[in-house]
Amino acid sequence: MDFKLELKKYQELVNEELAKYLRKEAVPESILNHSVEYSLMAGGKRLRPILMLKTYQLFNENIENCMSFAVAMEMIHNFSLIHDDLPGIDNDDFRHGKLTNHKKFNEATAILAGDSLLNQAYIVISKSLLQEQQLERKIRALSEFTHSVDRMIAGEYVDTEYEGKQISHEYLEYIHNNKTGALLKACCRIGAILAGAQEEDIENITEYANHIGLAFQIKDDILSETGDEKVLGKPIGNDKEKGKCTYVTKYGLEESQKKLEVLTKEAIKRIEKYGEKGEFLKELALYMMERNK
Ligand code: IPE
Ligand code: IPE
Ligand code: MG
Ligand code: MG
Repeated sequence: MDFKLELKKYQELVNEELAKYLRKEAVPESILNHSVEYSLMAGGKRLRPILMLKTYQLFNENIENCMSFAVAMEMIHNFSLIHDDLPGIDNDDFRHGKLTNHKKFNEATAILAGDSLLNQAYIVISKSLLQEQQLERKIRALSEFTHSVDRMIAGEYVDTEYEGKQISHEYLEYIHNNKTGALLKACCRIGAILAGAQEEDIENITEYANHIGLAFQIKDDILSETGDEKVLGKPIGNDKEKGKCTYVTKYGLEESQKKLEVLTKEAIKRIEKYGEKGEFLKELALYMMERNK
């Protein structure tokens, strides 16, 4: 398997699927719809839906049954990014190499674009529930989904609340595991649940997800310090400026890099038992560790 090629193929697949939900009609709220499209199609890596689809494929080939949840998760992720950039949260001006939503449009539009994406995610899922196949699995997946959104919001809150303050190791991991880990964990669990995986496998895949979840935010914090702004598409150095407590500001770059590597190795261990079928998820964990954007 050529990992880069497969990643690109799935990114395109997710983009095509998301494009189906863009609202193009001339309506009084057209600018709101443009602003949703502006952020949703701005060039995100689509790692969450891909993680869900590829976890699903460990246990079941036909990803059709997973697509609604996958695009819904990408909508939630984009909602979280639009709100994360707002002046009341991180106050950032650039993402994906473009102005952030509130800078391009205005704050009211950005708040409502986030709200709109949050709700559209549930519209997509409820339509899939109406199809009624595998209804029990879908209801369990929905419960995982709602819980993860709740946790992401909680994590964002605690992150904001403790800006400029020193926090304990426990609080730091609480923030990371909730604001970032929760959606990534839900992607893996939902993929496994929808595919009809055994409980033992759902638990195993949850362990993989917990490790990459924490690793993902540590890498995000490392990139916020050392990344190339042009490649990253968002500003660097601003965690320190805002007095954000991150792995990097608390433990330094070297320790953070070590922790990232240990977590990635641990994650990969959980995938070994799936042999060739797990190859993509193994490569994905490595890609997440080595990425430069
Ligand atoms: C960035 O996530 C925000 C975090 C949760 C750390 P991604 O790096 O996955 O964002 P995009 O969608 O690819 O830009
Ligand atoms: C983003 O965390 C987490 C969510 C949006 C839920 P950060 O604030 O650390 O991510 P970036 O660096 O702005 O993408
Ligand atoms: Mg933030
Ligand atoms: Mg931010």
